[in-house]
Amino acid sequence: MTDIIIDDQGPVRVIRMNRLDKKNALTLPMYSAMAEAVAGAASDARVRCIMMAGGPDVFCAGNDIGDFMKAAQGGGLGQPILDFLYALVRCEKPVVAAVNGNAVGVGTTMLLHCDYVVAGSTARLSTPFVGLGLVPEAGSSLVAPRLMGHARAFALLVMGQPLGAPEAKDAGIVNAVVEPGEADSAALAAAGRIAALPAEGVLMSRRLMRGSVDEIVRRIDEEAEAFKARLKSPEAQAAFMAFLSRKK
Ligand code: COA
Repeated sequence: MTDIIIDDQGPVRVIRMNRLDKKNALTLPMYSAMAEAVAGAASDARVRCIMMAGGPDVFCAGNDIGDFMKAAQGGGLGQPILDFLYALVRCEKPVVAAVNGNAVGVGTTMLLHCDYVVAGSTARLSTPFVGLGLVPEAGSSLVAPRLMGHARAFALLVMGQPLGAPEAKDAGIVNAVVEPGEADSAALAAAGRIAALPAEGVLMSRRLMRGSVDEIVRRIDEEAEAFKARLKSPEAQAAFMAFLSRKK
């Protein structure tokens, strides 16, 4: 079973994280597959909208913490992570997401680059970067304050306070909250509505709304430098060890 399933449903490319035994914690090959699927959508005229999805009980537990430990020895975030983030941010086609259960770390920060997010009512968005001895990534230090204001972004990104689905909607990063189990169908329906609109009009409107994305790409690089330094820090190493050796 592959950890990333790419399924083109008519004009909608569904990119599904499918490493459910590890709560969809992302490995480097998973980032590579997602980067390729997002970038490939850009050059495929049949694809009019992308949908990011996870499992019925978990969206994504963030980066694989074992990989973080290896990355600390290797000297930084792997290129596949950056490739995925660049592809997502530079993507010109609309991106919809369906979120069930936990969306942790990059599971939440990727949502900040989506155009339409549907969450099951029990979804929980969190970014425990600082508690893990790390710093925010994926351009979130720039985009989150813009979307939800500094105070709410600080609570999320620095204090690590989770957002429930209704709070995330209130903060403006989720469009719709639906019954648990209905997020996928509601997101797919939204993606279908977007895909049915005149493609050129969608593209141009989105481009106008987003402006230049170079600033976000620069921030991703800046964050990655800080992240690289933090990965080696005693705080981060201790937090990773604590997670990997915890007793259940
Ligand atoms: N990296 C590596 N493995 C992870 C993981 C991650 N980010 N998140 C979960 N897993 C693994 C667990 O180690 C466990 O593996 P095991 O069955 O071999 O022991 C399995 O996934 C199930 O996780 P578990 O914690 O038992 O599930 P849960 O439903 O009780 O909790 C989470 C789900 C997402 C709340 C919890 O797993 C979690 O907090 N994960 C870490 C999230 C994180 O800090 N990510 C980094 C963000 S920067």
